[in-house]
This record gives sequence, structure tokens and C-alpha cells, in this order.
Amino acid sequence: MEPILTVDKLKTSFLTSAGAVQAVRGVSFTVGRGEIVGIVGESGSGKSVTSMSLLRLLPDTARIDRDSSVLFEGQELSKLSLKELREIRGQKIAMIFQDPMSSLNPLIPVGKQVMEMMKIHHRELSRDELKQRALELFQAVRIPEPEKRFSSYPHQFSGGMRQRVMIAMALANRPDLLIADEPTTALDVTIQDQILKQLRTLQQEWGTSIIFITHDLGVVAELCQRVLVMYGGLIMEEAAIDDLFEAPSHPYTLGLLASIPALNQDKDARLASIPGSPPDMTNPPKGCPFAPRCPHARRVCAEELPPYVSVGEGHRSMCWLLQPDAPANDNPFRKEAAV
Ligand SMILES: Nc1ncnc2c1ncn2[C@@H]1O[C@H](COP(=O)(O)OP(=O)(O)OP(=O)(O)O)[C@@H](O)[C@H]1O
Ligand code: SF4
Ligand SMILES: [Mg+2]
Repeated sequence: MEPILTVDKLKTSFLTSAGAVQAVRGVSFTVGRGEIVGIVGESGSGKSVTSMSLLRLLPDTARIDRDSSVLFEGQELSKLSLKELREIRGQKIAMIFQDPMSSLNPLIPVGKQVMEMMKIHHRELSRDELKQRALELFQAVRIPEPEKRFSSYPHQFSGGMRQRVMIAMALANRPDLLIADEPTTALDVTIQDQILKQLRTLQQEWGTSIIFITHDLGVVAELCQRVLVMYGGLIMEEAAIDDLFEAPSHPYTLGLLASIPALNQDKDARLASIPGSPPDMTNPPKGCPFAPRCPHARRVCAEELPPYVSVGEGHRSMCWLLQPDAPANDNPFRKEAAV
């Protein structure tokens, strides 16, 4: 598949009074044209910072490493000015977030907001043409009675409908790449399902590539073709969706899979996740970031960052255990763990 986006050795840190937070520590991946790639991982693993780094939507305290490369449709985004990046944002790359209110203006009717978004990049269109296009978008994201809802204000919409308006805004200029950061997390399951269906339809009909960020492996299974599992600012495992579920190879992925609640379990079961907590990113472990929580950790795991090992076509894992010449078991954290 032809890549639309190629990210290479992305490293992003934040300067804070407690030291540099190494949020993203060398992340490389591609997104194919028309492909939906999921990024999954616990809170703080670097999912949002990875996606915000692509268009440098970061606070002044953020630093992106000089060697990082973000190639989008053949253009090196890291070489562009913020003004040039703004041109790309909204037109070729669009973003949707968990909280639609943060992107919608509460004082302007939603239809007008969508029209204004289009106008930025399509000054040649008349008012009627803009309105016609905006209405078509409302229909595309299944907002009922679009004519009537066009002049409503954001607060007059339910959470699910607001999220649809956000998607309509994001799609206003038919972006080639849509980055969706937990867009359905705050919504109930039925609405979430409808929005996921919508995204899939848009991908199929328009060929939009999508990066979908979530905590939820269930959502990834439903929507994505490929998935990146992140932990401690690094990609631990990358695989096609079927391979990840049928042949997961990284201990962290296994932990995530084991913590998916069964359908008959109540929602609190979700809390029964991997014991322990993520690393402090001001002082990340020099070895494998998962080592303090990994039931299979060996001495080398705490000392050196593991290399990627190819475990199948398009399937890689960052784990010492998968090395053909892996050293003998010597777990500094849990002596009883046997491999
Ligand atoms: N502005 C900031 N200043 C300092 N540290 C930050 C800043 N933004 C993020 N971080 C840190 O960077 C790391 C990665 O954060 P990020 O928001 O990417 O996590 P995430 O995987 O998106 O988590 P979540 O699932 O909770 O959204 C975390 O340790 C976070 O505390
Ligand atoms: S490298 Fe070691 S600590 Fe890290 S996941 Fe593999 S076995 Fe566990
Ligand atoms: Mg996030």
C-alpha cells in the first residue's frame, strides 16, 4: 500500500521544572492511503503527543528532535513553518478530539462554522455553494433534519450529535488524513458504534486515511486494519489487526488483551488491568519501559532497550524475549517468573 504518511524516529519532549518529560522516544510508522491505523495504549503512553507532533500542535515547552522526520504526501512537514502547517491542517490533515466543545465555537451556529471552515480553503465558492456543501456533509455524518439543525448552536446538540458536527467540520475540506484522538470515549456504546460505522463509511467512500487513537482494543478490532501498541513513548508492537489478536507477541500486548472485559462482565472489570503503573517519563527506564511490570523480564530487560524483532509480515515487536539468542532467564523484578 502506498504510504501517505511516513513518520521516522519521532522524539518529542517537554521542558518542565521537574526536568524533561520524554513523551515520545523514537517512534517510526507509516499510514497507507485509505488505511485505518489504530494507536492503542494506556494513559500517558504518548499517543496524543505522537499525533500532535505531526502538525506541531504543541505548547512552547515542547521540543521535537532534529532527526525526526514526518513525510506527508512526499512533503517533509518538519521543515515547514507553522504558517505552512496551518495551511495543511484542516485542508489535507484534519483532527477530531474527545471533547467537541473544545473545537466548536459556542457562539456561532454549527452550519456557519462548517461553512467558514470550508471558506478558508475555498474562497472561490459562493455562499449558496458553501451552504449546499455543508448540508451535504451534515447528511454524510447522518445529522437528522440537516436544514433545521443548520442554524442551531452547539449547546443545542447532544454529545453524540456534537461529535458528528465535529466530524463534519473535520471533513469540510475532504482531508486525505483524519487524526481522531479518542473521539468516542465520552459517548455511550450505541452512539460510539454509529460514529465508528460512519468513519468506516467515509474511509470506504472517500478513501480517507485515518489514525484512530484509543484505549480500547475492542474499538481497534472493529475499525482498524493495522495497530500500533504504545507504551512509555515507544511502539511496543505493530501488526495487522488479525495478527495482533491471533498471534500477539509482546508481553504488554498480552496484558492489554487479558484486561479486555468479557461481554458478560460488568464495566468495572476494565479496572482489573495490568498490575503496576507506567514509567515516570522524566526519568524513563534505560532498558525496556515495561520491565518493572513484565512477568517475563530478564536482567538484560532492565539494562538495554530491546531491538525490534520481526515476527511476521508487517509484524514487529520490541522485546528481548523474541531474540533468537535471548539470554537465559534472569528476572530482576520477579525471581520466580519462568519463561
Ligand atoms: N504539555 C505537557 N507538558 C509536560 N508533559 C506533557 C505535556 N503533554 C503531555 N505530557 C506528558 O507526555 C506523556 C505522554 O502524554 P500523552 O498525552 O501523549 O499520553 P496519551 O497516551 O495520549 O494518554 P491518554 O490516553 O491519557 O490521552 C505523559 O507522560 C504526559 O504527562
Ligand atoms: S523486553 Fe523484557 S521486560 Fe520488556 S516486554 Fe520483553 S521480556 Fe518483558
Ligand atoms: Mg491522549
